[in-house]
Amino acid sequence: MATGVWLAGGRGSVAVTSIVGATAIRAGLADPTGCVTELEQLRSPALPALGDLVFGGHDPASTRLCKKAEALAAAGVVPARLVAALTEELATVEAEIRPVPAAATQLETAALIAEDIAAFRFRHSLERVVVVNVSSTEPAPAPHPAHGDADALRQALGVPGAVLPPSSLYAYAAFTAGCSYVDFTPSTGARLPALDALAHRHAVPYAGHDGKTGETLVKSVLAPMFAMRHLRVRTWSGTNLLGGGDGANLADPGANAAKATSKQRVLGETLGYEPQGNTRIEYVDDIGDFKTAWDLITFSGFLGTSMRMEFTWHGCDSALAAPLVLDLARLTAAAHKSGRSGPLTELAFFFKDPLGTVPHALAEQWALLASFVRGFADA
Ligand SMILES: NC(=O)c1ccc[n+]([C@@H]2O[C@H](COP(=O)([O-])OP(=O)(O)OC[C@H]3O[C@@H](n4cnc5c(N)ncnc54)[C@H](O)[C@@H]3O)[C@@H](O)[C@H]2O)c1
Repeated sequence: MATGVWLAGGRGSVAVTSIVGATAIRAGLADPTGCVTELEQLRSPALPALGDLVFGGHDPASTRLCKKAEALAAAGVVPARLVAALTEELATVEAEIRPVPAAATQLETAALIAEDIAAFRFRHSLERVVVVNVSSTEPAPAPHPAHGDADALRQALGVPGAVLPPSSLYAYAAFTAGCSYVDFTPSTGARLPALDALAHRHAVPYAGHDGKTGETLVKSVLAPMFAMRHLRVRTWSGTNLLGGGDGANLADPGANAAKATSKQRVLGETLGYEPQGNTRIEYVDDIGDFKTAWDLITFSGFLGTSMRMEFTWHGCDSALAAPLVLDLARLTAAAHKSGRSGPLTELAFFFKDPLGTVPHALAEQWALLASFVRGFADA
């Protein structure tokens, strides 16, 4: 049965690449390279088929989906022939991308968001809807006493003012509409005790945070190697250059800090100590969605001998992110159907800053994910 994917940030690069990709796969025009749920070990009849995903979303931008898809094609992110072949399909999704509602209080705004999602579900006879946040990264919000308690949060949201950042308001709206929620960004999302309690109260699961698609993905493979060989990493410094909407937004110091924090967690937690060094993010308009990461690692071996390693990663950010968005929607929908609620820590494989106390080494995260998928068959 059809499953809805409601994208907060539905006109952004990651969202539109996901929509073009899923639609192209459904039409038999592309194969699912990059979707890990299509690998033999992770394939499961419990997951909704890629072709059964129906898209909608919110975005304050007004660029039409076909225009955004053409811009992505011109930038080399998606093939132009696919965009040309999918004009009708993109027009159908266009009708489901709404402006972001605004009301006098955040409680009323959340109710309008939930109404949009419920109407989308009804129109398409969807079995369930997964809300996925792929909107612009926000700075960390100021703490608020109502963040700790679901009832206090409801009360505080009813008073004019901003109690929750947009990513968390989407989580609030998703949970109250009985939908699961995935945060693909480093924003706060569902990471507040009040929202965790609300997810349990409405018996819905959530996943996050911050899709692991580039430098951190490589780190989560290399850091365990240094640890397993008992080599002492002394410094690990990285510079990330990116353009596009995400790059422009990350030029804001608050959003940049949220992203840099999310990217550093893997080292301390895999190595057991913090090597010296930082991860920097710089906006370079000209490279668009194609990110370059340069990392320099210095380490000591036997008898303290000094050595170094460098790597350069050239990735197309949205092409790396989109298949994971599709995987996450399928896995989260299946978890919801199987009765799971609260954080889906088994989905750590997909995230830079995963929920809960989980391994950061990619191989261990993979094993956790494989056993999670096998669990659907055993249920
Ligand atoms: N591409 C990757 O590899 C990758 C990896 C990890 C995380 N992310 C995160 O995914 C997000 C999307 O990345 P992108 O490259 O598509 O960025 P983008 O700038 O192209 O798209 C973001 C979209 O969000 C919209 N938006 C802004 N505020 C909103 C709101 N309140 N409600 C709904 N929509 C809103 C914008 O109008 C824009 O269309 C970013 O937060 C980014 O950090 C991307």
